[in-house]
Amino acid sequence: MAIDYSVKDGVAMIVWNMTSSPMNVLNDDSVPAFGEALKKAFSDADVKGIVITSSKPEFVAGADLKMILRNQGGDPAEMLKISAGLNELFRRIETNGKPVVAAINGTALGGGLEICLACHYRVALNNPKTKLGLPEVKVGLLPGAGGTQRLPRMIGMQAALPLILEGKELSPKDALGMGIVDAVAETREEMLEKAFSWIAANPKPLKPWDEINKKTGKIQAKDNYKVPNGAVLSPVGMQTFTVGTAMMMDKSKGNYPSTQHIMSCVYEGLLVNIDRGIAIEARHFVKVATSKEAGNLIRTMFLGLNEANKGASRPKDIAKTEVKKLGVLGAGMMGAGIAYVSALAGIEVILKDVSQEAAEKGKDYARSLLKKTVERGKFDALKAEGVLDLIKPTANADDLAGSELIIEAVFENRELKATVTQEAEPQLVNNGVFASNTSTLPITGLAKASANPANFIGIHFFSPVDKMMLVELIVGKETSDYALAVAIDYTRKIKKTPIVVNDSRGFYTSRCFGTYTSEGMELLKDGVNPVLIENAGKLAGMPVGPLAVSDEVALDLVYKIAGQAVKDGVLAETDTSYQIGKQFTEMGRLGKKAKAGFYEYPEGGQKHLWEGLAELFPVSTQQPTLEEVKTRLLYRQAIETVRCFEEGVIRTRLDADLGSILGWGFPPYAGGTLSFVDYVGISTFVSECDRLAETYGERFRPTPKLRAMAAAGEGFVEKK
Ligand code: NAI
Repeated sequence: MAIDYSVKDGVAMIVWNMTSSPMNVLNDDSVPAFGEALKKAFSDADVKGIVITSSKPEFVAGADLKMILRNQGGDPAEMLKISAGLNELFRRIETNGKPVVAAINGTALGGGLEICLACHYRVALNNPKTKLGLPEVKVGLLPGAGGTQRLPRMIGMQAALPLILEGKELSPKDALGMGIVDAVAETREEMLEKAFSWIAANPKPLKPWDEINKKTGKIQAKDNYKVPNGAVLSPVGMQTFTVGTAMMMDKSKGNYPSTQHIMSCVYEGLLVNIDRGIAIEARHFVKVATSKEAGNLIRTMFLGLNEANKGASRPKDIAKTEVKKLGVLGAGMMGAGIAYVSALAGIEVILKDVSQEAAEKGKDYARSLLKKTVERGKFDALKAEGVLDLIKPTANADDLAGSELIIEAVFENRELKATVTQEAEPQLVNNGVFASNTSTLPITGLAKASANPANFIGIHFFSPVDKMMLVELIVGKETSDYALAVAIDYTRKIKKTPIVVNDSRGFYTSRCFGTYTSEGMELLKDGVNPVLIENAGKLAGMPVGPLAVSDEVALDLVYKIAGQAVKDGVLAETDTSYQIGKQFTEMGRLGKKAKAGFYEYPEGGQKHLWEGLAELFPVSTQQPTLEEVKTRLLYRQAIETVRCFEEGVIRTRLDADLGSILGWGFPPYAGGTLSFVDYVGISTFVSECDRLAETYGERFRPTPKLRAMAAAGEGFVEKK
């Protein structure tokens, strides 16, 4: 059962109540049932109006994206049929002649909000947890049930475009302010009362973009409807369109492949009547819904992310654990961030540093972040104070007593880490877990200092901790499933996404991310124009060019890490990043922190590429194409991920993909570094890697196993 139907005082109540899915979603089950219920109400002469609502916490959470994935690679005509069916139904809501009200009791996203937009009146229950929005763009889609047509017709193009292009989610109050809902109610009773009284007062509603045909008396689309706040072809409309495109290109950095289609839907759709507009939208929807990019985004960034957040990698046979008291050693940049995100999740945090003063400084960091949250109206001052009270700065290790988990984030130094491990471990509860936030030191080695290496694990956060959603959990040789379960439960409690990797040099993220910066340096050495290198990185969908990001990381760190690898005999001294790291460190051009690296960072001015690069790396007269540079940058990361996968450093396709997108910004449209292989096609990937290896070096050479997979027509992405 998906939809409950009843008639009360001449009003049909159509109540979403799906039992086949945890949330109300538009799918093969619910849409036909919803259609039946509507038809019944339209044709019953005793029914004077209709209320659509839900008896679950959410209204309707959106379309079932698994349905879209199932239809991928199928016949686009089939997809068009599904879309046409939905659009016809929604259009009937508007034109059936009886008033239809959406009583929005909870979250209405995507198709859920599109139902509401088709209704004549919208009243929402005021709950700060309720989200209203059209987030389709985030999974490479566009609102395909009239959203791109109705929203701008309701609130104007200028207000509607950012919502559709960025997928922003609004609270009921904000939606009211923008004219997306008509009223807000404090209780369910009040919401339904408002719905009923609106129906009583508006027996024959007509959408502003519709008119009554004088001859037939039927409702039809109006040809000359004027969109609020300026017609499309007015100078204002044109300007919005141009500015919108530029803004989106900048914001999405090419990661949201459906944005151009959204712009076309809105722009072309508003020039014609709503029926034709909806037909235009459907055409674009089918194009994006059948695209590989949407499939990748849905698979990794929606379904996959949900799976990971639910603990897909958690050992199954261990009872749920909970960290109530956390010890953090080192109140520097990382320690302070870890303390902050943990306190936000309601965990008591003992923040220890060498002096009370240093520890207090860490707490000050949390204070400044909380102040901003209050200023932005996200928290009230009292709540912020409560969070801050959970952080207890100290210089005394005894205060750590009773912690279920201790995370060390002291300087990156083996001996120091061993000392703090031995000092703090005795303070743990029985069977407590000790974790290191090291970014480079192998966990198995660090665990040697521990009295209980089975309960020693790597919990690797990314900087800035409050913004970066990924946490890389590193399992050492002796790390137990229990310690992993504790780490995963903790990561989920602080609302971050865990991936699990086995111990190895650079773990997974640093190792593969390092290939991006390193290939940037190879390109520089090959005489490629640095402007081309940086633009190619960004146009490939990476958030920052490889040289700029090397500056952010710091070139002395690149030198130090490569130097260790050279010392350990896993990297040749002739390695480009070792050589360039050394050269720049010796010149004192350490990167952004020194205000000099590959870039110059003038006081108060814009950063720009350093002029001296031309002398060190003369630009050759023959430049490669943009595509070739993009290929080098992306393939290098993907082939390294394949190696990590084969070596068992990374355990699952999903962890590899999520780690690459959330950890270092690999383009989401490609689905992540392993999905990338399937995205370009495994045979193409192998032959391109061979070509790149012949031209630029063995670092691109495909592995024998990958060749075998290609020959067998296998891939990394699970077949449907
Ligand atoms: P930081 O230099 O900002 O902070 C280190 C803190 O440890 C300082 O406040 C220092 O006073 C304190 N400390 C030193 N000895 C101590 C002791 N015996 N007991 C308690 N505290 C002590 O360093 P940052 O950047 O926060 O890095 C910390 C760790 O996190 C390192 O292992 C680093 O490799 C790792 N990491 C750093 C990332 C980054 O982007 N900075 C990213 C991921 C991991």
